[in-house]
Amino acid sequence: MAECLLIPGKQKVKGRIKVCGSKNTAVALLPAALLAESSTVLYNLPRITDIDRLVEILTALGAKVTSSNHHCLRIDSSSINSFTPPHSLANKLRASYYLMGSLLGRLGHVEIPLPGGCNLGPRPIDQHIKGFSALGADVEIEHGIVKLKAKKLKGAHIYLDVVSVGATINIMLAAVRAEGKTVIENAAKEPEIVDVANYLNAMGARVRGAGTDVIKIEGVNELGSTEHTVIPDRIEGGTYLIAAAASGGEALVEEVIPKHLDPVVAKLKEVGIHLEVGPDWIRVQGNNDGSLLPSDLKTFPYPGFPTDLQPPMMVLLTQAAGTSIVTENVFERRFRHVDELKKMGARIKLEGRTAVIQGGQDLTGAPLQVTDLRGGAAFIIAGLISRGETMLSGVEHVDRGYEKIEERFERLGVELKRVSMGERLFPGK
Ligand code: UD1
Repeated sequence: MAECLLIPGKQKVKGRIKVCGSKNTAVALLPAALLAESSTVLYNLPRITDIDRLVEILTALGAKVTSSNHHCLRIDSSSINSFTPPHSLANKLRASYYLMGSLLGRLGHVEIPLPGGCNLGPRPIDQHIKGFSALGADVEIEHGIVKLKAKKLKGAHIYLDVVSVGATINIMLAAVRAEGKTVIENAAKEPEIVDVANYLNAMGARVRGAGTDVIKIEGVNELGSTEHTVIPDRIEGGTYLIAAAASGGEALVEEVIPKHLDPVVAKLKEVGIHLEVGPDWIRVQGNNDGSLLPSDLKTFPYPGFPTDLQPPMMVLLTQAAGTSIVTENVFERRFRHVDELKKMGARIKLEGRTAVIQGGQDLTGAPLQVTDLRGGAAFIIAGLISRGETMLSGVEHVDRGYEKIEERFERLGVELKRVSMGERLFPGK
């Protein structure tokens, strides 16, 4: 039965929370595990539905996936026997595209549907394909299925036309098993890319330069066992910082790598939020006395302000005293949350890639439809600060990337109630 989240309004965040392992790293590490001829162990995995689906896919491909505790998986890839991830599962998550690089690297063959996942406007994978093709793979796209085949991948010099996290990681996955040297230029520099490179290197790969815009990979014949701990999720951490700031509350966000959140901390300080940064924690003290300053925000690839925190930040800016301008530079149409925020009384005008936000508006609770993961996070924050109750449907989008969101927010002293639609419609039953 479909579920929704009920958010009573006018709640202030107050509490401390340890962030989970990074979703965007984890969804690349599970496919990467297929490159090893033996077992690898991953610690600090977030238990989100994207990971559950990847476990099902890996199992269907012949891997043995076992779990000793909730956040740890042992993946034994020695018996991989299929190059066709089940289409019905692969369709459901965008990150299934990492199976292209990993199965191509491991088996020299993969057939997989074009990726699904969050709808942020057009999300082509031409740069991934260009990379595989440069490595010597034959590429065919038929009836929505991508077919990649190579007798032997050969290292190549690849210049990405756009800075892409997915393409950088995917090409890296295939290239670690190619013959000879690969150079990826204009590579993305996100911390998640460094984490994937560290995992591959621990398996025996030779990847240098991850975290810079030139990555050099010396192919190897075999990858083996290792254990790896996933880095903290900077986007989850940033979500809580913004929630505390917007609600005029306070939070201690623990087990983060503060460096990864530099652009977010800087922007929050700019709008007048008080933050204290420790070695692995950030404390935030919000104020909702009308003194928040408007700001111009532009999203960029790392180390710029992350596009994934643009929707939550937009909610915060509705509370600033004045006009803010948000420019989305990473995705062409990542403003689907705006129509829903307007239902709550937000005054936002869209002009192409720019949103003009007239701050100082009291938001009121409303029924909202979540259509993408981070838009969902923004609606939760909007629900907390608005007057009255907000009901979110489409919660499955949030569950793809946040582990038990209502329990996480409970630790931050606020209530989100998960109910099935039936319960809501027939409260007496
Ligand atoms: C990843 C993240 C996502 C984040 C995004 C940008 C994962 C699983 N998802 O998505 O949370 O919002 O990075 O930080 O890690 N592009 C092309 N051709 C390509 C590939 C990308 O034109 O072949 C364009 C995209 O349309 C977009 C831009 O490049 O405009 C950046 O996209 P990309 O970095 O690839 O995002 P994802 O890897 O899909």
